[in-house]
Amino acid sequence: MTEIANTELRRAGEDGAFLIDGKEISQSVLADVAARASALVASGVKPGLAVVLVGEDPASAVYVRAKGKAAATCGFHSVQHTLPAATSEADLLALVARLNADPAIHGILVQLPLPSHVNATRVLEAISPAKDVDGFHPFNAGLLAIGDLGRALVPCTPAGSMLLLERAAKALGVSLAGKEAVVVGRSNIVGKPMAQLLLARNCTVTIAHSRTADLAATVGRAEILVAAVGRAGMIRGEWIRPGAIVIDVGINRVAGEGVDASGKPKTRLVGDVDFASAARRAGAITPVPGGVGPMTIAMLMSNTLEAARRSASSRL
Ligand code: GUN
Repeated sequence: MTEIANTELRRAGEDGAFLIDGKEISQSVLADVAARASALVASGVKPGLAVVLVGEDPASAVYVRAKGKAAATCGFHSVQHTLPAATSEADLLALVARLNADPAIHGILVQLPLPSHVNATRVLEAISPAKDVDGFHPFNAGLLAIGDLGRALVPCTPAGSMLLLERAAKALGVSLAGKEAVVVGRSNIVGKPMAQLLLARNCTVTIAHSRTADLAATVGRAEILVAAVGRAGMIRGEWIRPGAIVIDVGINRVAGEGVDASGKPKTRLVGDVDFASAARRAGAITPVPGGVGPMTIAMLMSNTLEAARRSASSRL
């Protein structure tokens, strides 16, 4: 398990919440992964990550570049397959099959979203569960659901959110066991796996969603709140239970003030939680940007190292 550095957390304002610095914590995860990767390389196994990008979605291209860069920083063998948007599902499945069979590759990531003519579920389910570093394959989701964290590859965003939560609990001197945790959002990528991870830490877990009858009251019970709905500022500060640990997974682009150098209206990133009001009530809170975001790529590297380590030990 990845250890995180125990540096002091800053506060938001004079007696505001502790700020959980995802940038700094992700760097400590990456440094730890790089050190363990170099030990694995010394024993003859170089972790290998293959990232597959189909089409020219600019946001996906940025993410994929960042993943490749992080892999190189960690000392991994890193390959990127960039395919045209018109690539057939059969060709994509053939590439996945080749990567599944390639002993130099321990982790395979097919960047989402895929073009609409490709069945994404079929592609994700074609990835060998042992190389599924996104943790999206039903086999890994099943291992997580039965609490077998030793064998599951866990989705990166919830895994990173858990590390931030543990860091915050340490700063506040509290334990996670027995706490009321509320996850807002029920996606397979964040909400559901997050709830499973909290359950594995003995929290009492509620999953709230778009049909929850009284969201404010549900959020108000949370000693641990994880917001993953993708709606800017939807969770209001006055809903938050005083002293709660707030993990904001949302990354939403909204209109900013003024125009940039090229005359285009400025935009900025905000979370699902209204930060300014929430930081006055919470015990600890993640900022957006600079909270959960940087953790996702760090955990992808951690999963790739873990997949490589397991493949090496299964060959002994
Ligand atoms: N697209 C946006 N985030 C992700 C992610 O974490 N994994 C994959 N495969 N695609 C994404």
